[in-house]
Amino acid sequence: MNSIKHVAIIMDGNGRWGVKHKKSRNLGHKEGLKTVEKIIKSSIKNKIRYLTLYAFSTENWKRPKKEINFLFNLLENFLINKISELNKQNIKLKIIGKKRFSKKINQLLNKSEKKTLKNKRLQINLALNYGSKSELLQSFNFVCKNKKKINEKNISKYLFTQNIPDPDILIRTGNTQRLSNFLLWQLAYSEIFFEKKLWPDFTENDYNRILNKFKRIKRNYGNI
Ligand code: FPP
Repeated sequence: MNSIKHVAIIMDGNGRWGVKHKKSRNLGHKEGLKTVEKIIKSSIKNKIRYLTLYAFSTENWKRPKKEINFLFNLLENFLINKISELNKQNIKLKIIGKKRFSKKINQLLNKSEKKTLKNKRLQINLALNYGSKSELLQSFNFVCKNKKKINEKNISKYLFTQNIPDPDILIRTGNTQRLSNFLLWQLAYSEIFFEKKLWPDFTENDYNRILNKFKRIKRNYGNI
């Protein structure tokens, strides 16, 4: 049976959930945060070491200002209210993506990362202002400028995910089958699960079903 070290998730479908329930897209995001909390708890139960969550892409800046502000307020309140609890549970928070937010958000993110830096039980990589192509370009540029050898080891070393094993599993909810500029390098050999359910409807049972299915998959890595 395969062990699971790292699960990555594209949490898609919040906006549609809000509209479907005759409420706002923003209410879908609020509901989506409840699923985030459930999946964190379940990841701990399943002894997963790394959970990478796509919370805001470099392309998401195209959204209406009202929705962007709502998402960052949600993040701010989540960190203010929950970081001590995450810390007590031995959870480490790491931001992947370029930290180009308001001074207040940047300070809060840095403070949260610092507070939880030494924690070992579960590492949550929160992808914020994250784009995989830009991450790769940054790494290629660094490797070239510093006259290092262009090889897989060096490219991986200068990605935001340095020292983190590649995801075993990628889950995308929301009935859409694309990668949306997420971890293009790191997902080379991940098992991908596209889920019909919208993110706020995704349950612990759905998560466990995927984890159990993954455990039984024969992973060949090009071999037979
Ligand atoms: C994609 O759904 C989801 C996002 C862009 C935001 C994800 C945010 C959360 C799950 C809540 C906040 C999380 C934290 C950690 C504070 P979409 O809006 O693209 O959905 P749609 O495809 O239905 O429009």
